[in-house]
Parts: sequence; C-alpha cells; structure tokens
Amino acid sequence: MGNLLDLVRTRTPHRLLEGWADDHGLTFRFRPGGQRDVVVTADPVLVDLALRRRPDDFGRDTGMSAVINEIVPHGVFTAEGDRWRRLRKVATQSLNAAYLRQYFTTITKVTERLLRRWEAAAAAGERVDVLDSMMRYTLDVTSGLAMGHDLNSLESTGEGLHRRLPMLFPAFARRINAPFPYWRRFKLPQDHRLDATVREIEALVKERFAHARARVAAGESPANFLEALVKPLENEPGITDEEVFGNVLTMLLAGEDTTSSTAAWALHFLAEHPDIAAKVRAEADEVLGDQRVPGDPATIGRLRYAEAVVHEVLRLQPVAPMAGLQNLRDMTVARSDGRELFLPANTPIVVLTSYGARRDTARFPDAGVFRPERWLDGRLPAEALPFAPFGSGPRFCPGRNLALIEAAMVTSVLGRRFDLAGDRTAGMVHERMSFAAYPVNLHLHVTARRDSRDSANPGSAVR
Ligand code: HEM
Repeated sequence: MGNLLDLVRTRTPHRLLEGWADDHGLTFRFRPGGQRDVVVTADPVLVDLALRRRPDDFGRDTGMSAVINEIVPHGVFTAEGDRWRRLRKVATQSLNAAYLRQYFTTITKVTERLLRRWEAAAAAGERVDVLDSMMRYTLDVTSGLAMGHDLNSLESTGEGLHRRLPMLFPAFARRINAPFPYWRRFKLPQDHRLDATVREIEALVKERFAHARARVAAGESPANFLEALVKPLENEPGITDEEVFGNVLTMLLAGEDTTSSTAAWALHFLAEHPDIAAKVRAEADEVLGDQRVPGDPATIGRLRYAEAVVHEVLRLQPVAPMAGLQNLRDMTVARSDGRELFLPANTPIVVLTSYGARRDTARFPDAGVFRPERWLDGRLPAEALPFAPFGSGPRFCPGRNLALIEAAMVTSVLGRRFDLAGDRTAGMVHERMSFAAYPVNLHLHVTARRDSRDSANPGSAVR
C-alpha cells in the first residue's frame, strides 16, 4: 500500500506533503501504492528549475493531464510543446492589461449585482453561503470576459451552470485519485452528470462562437476571449474549433473556483479580524468616495490595503499550493544543499509552491498571523519561491491580474458595506482540497453598515 492510505484519508494532501517535508527534508520520495515513486520537493532551487524549464524539459503530469483532457480536451492548461506555445499566446493576449480595461465595465456591473444580492440578504436577515456567492460572482465575470455572455447566476434562483460547473474540479480530483479508470468501462450517475454539464457548456460556447465569428467577420475588434480566439493571431495558424471550446472552458474553470475561493477566504478573515475590516473600510471610504463600486482600473489600483489582504489570503490559504509535473528526459539536477538528484525520464514530481509561506520566518515574521501590512512596506515581492501562489516561469497563471482585481474588488466593496460575523451552525470553517483548495462551512451573517460619515445623519446608509 505504500503511503496510499495516508493520502486517501487526508482532505488536505498539500498540508500532509508539507508536513513530510518538515520531517524528511525539502526533497523526498514516497510511493503511492504499487505505482512509481513520486518525488516531492519544496526546495526553492528545484521548484524554480522545474517550473521555469517548461515546456522543453518539464511538463504537467501526464496522468493528471490525461484525466483533464478527457473532460476538457485541447485546453492550454494541459497542452505541451508547440501547441501550448500557440494557445498560450492567445490566452496571455486576451488577459493583458489592455483587454482588462475593456472588460472593466463587465466586472463593475457584476460587482454591483453582488452588492445588491448581499444587501437583500442583509435586509432579509439571511445568512450568506460565501463560497456559493463568490462562485456565482466569478462565473458571471468570467463568462462575460470569456465569451461575452451574461450568465447572471447572481440573480438566478434555480438550477444553472453556477450549480453544475463547480462539479468539474472535484471530478478531476476524484478521477486523478481513482485506483483505476473505471469511467472508461462504466459510468456512475456522477459521471453522467459530468458529461451532461460539459455538453451544456459546449452548446453555449457553440452558440456564442457563431456570434463571435459574425462580429469578427464584420470587422469588429475582439471584445472578449472567444472573439480573440476567432481572430487568428498575426503569423499564427488559426485555432481549431475544438481548441476554441477547450480554451473557453479552461478559462471558465481556471477563473472560477480559484478566484472564488480566494475572495471567500478574504471575507472570512475580515469577519475574524474586525481591526483589519476597519482598515479596509477606511481605505474604501477614502478611495471610492461616493462610488459604490470602483469604476475604472486606476481606482482598483489605489485599493492597496484590500490587495494586501488578498496577498495575505494567498499566503495562508493558497488555492493551488502544489503542482504535478514530470521531467521529459533523464536528468541530474542540483539541489540547494549542493547535492545532486538523478531523475529518470517521466518521474512524477510534486512541487510545493507555497511551502515557504508559513515557514519562512525571515521573510514572514509571525508567519502564522494574518497581517496584510507585511505586503505594504514595499520590501516583499508578491511572489518569490518557495511561495508562488500563481505558479512561476513561462506557464505562470495568465489570469493573475484579473484574479487580483476581482478579489480586491470584492474585499473592498463588501468589506466597506457590511459588518461581517461568522456563522458556525454548520461547523467550523476548514479547508479541503479537491484539485484546488477551498473553504468549507463558510457562512456569514451580514449587516448593512451606516457610514461613519453619516453619524450626523442617522438613517442614511453608505451609498
Ligand atoms: C486567485 C486566483 C487564481 C490562482 C491562485 C491561480 C493559480 C494558477 C496556478 C498556480 C496555475 C499554474 C501555473 C504554473 O503551472 O506555473 C495557473 C494556471 C492557469 N490559470 Fe490561474 N489562477 C487564478 C485565477 C485565474 C483566472 C482568473 C484565470 C483566467 C480567467 C486563470 C487562468 C489560468 C490559465 C489559462 C492557466 C494555464 C496556464 C498555462 O498552462 O500556460 N487563472 N493558475
């Protein structure tokens, strides 16, 4: 059985592996059942090397990629070699600063909707399921940016994609960890539901694709990711229809669970730390003035404390604290302690990209304490291995800026408007890993605040 049972039992495999690194050293091997040894490393030198020397010397773990490809074929996340280079250019280009400025009205509109939804919950005295709310928010933002489609799951009361899309990450995790690929022989009800969800998204993307083609053919400049995919890049071969579908779905998935989890944790920490919530509020009052929601990217850029809260969340509750890779040929690499490590071709390698976040007390004094101020004095780079919440090297997350905008926006706007109090009736808030790490039992009671500036004018709330 090797170490299989330990891994099967835990809900937080990254914490287990980080604990093993504490006990056995920064680089070690383990054996998950009768399979090949897996090399795990939190050594910043090796983590940097493996992430940076992609796609030529290292690639994503092929077992993981095969499982994802069966559900979401042709996406940039699982592409390798020249195909990845081609798809990566489009992904990066469509998420660059110029496009984000174009998309900003979508983000503002969806944030205004989120605010109204929380105001309604506050007025009704309902507790808020924070992760669900954040998932709807990020899905509405991402579907607008990815294909110009307003899903409006924030105002939807029934079933919808917002209920079904979140099943994809757990499905990846379930299949990656399955003892054998049963779904290739027979399907369980959950596999049928998964197929139905993928078909539903495929139908939606096809419909939007026809619309995008018509717009691009009429000479319109691309206004969303799908339209950017339709318009072939200069000197690049066009993208196939399958690649279009795979990449729109990749965007939806990569942009939803990750950002929603980060924003949800940020609100949890505000509820736990009223002193920090007060600073978020003071900053929002000063920067936003009479605006309910930031109206342009420059305003978001001035919400430095809210962004520091988000960096601190990514330090203590990273969404993607480990990555499964594999070396593409035999190689000997040097570790930070000067010793050499031989890696036969195709060794499964897990890199722990957030190991230093709680342990590097030189960079992070009082590393266990939630303290956004540590990001404000300009000495800390937001990412430096072994703390890389968005990955590193050429495959670094292309959605980082968008994610930071969304999470800082939510932190500032909701933190300003509401008093937040944790609700533990469903149990303690805790973390679970299901391909990405997310909070469980995160519910809040929210009370609409009166603005301190309105104390002379009782009855008027923050505008
Ligand atoms: C807090 C939110 C997010 C976190 C923590 C996060 C983290 C990551 C990480 C760790 C990777 C792997 C990087 C590597 O292999 O070095 C990644 C890849 C990726 N992310 Fe994000 N991400 C977030 C949000 C987003 C958003 C909003 C989008 C787009 C809408 C996005 C799109 C992607 C894509 C397309 C890739 C694949 C890149 C490639 O393989 O070249 N992510 N992300």
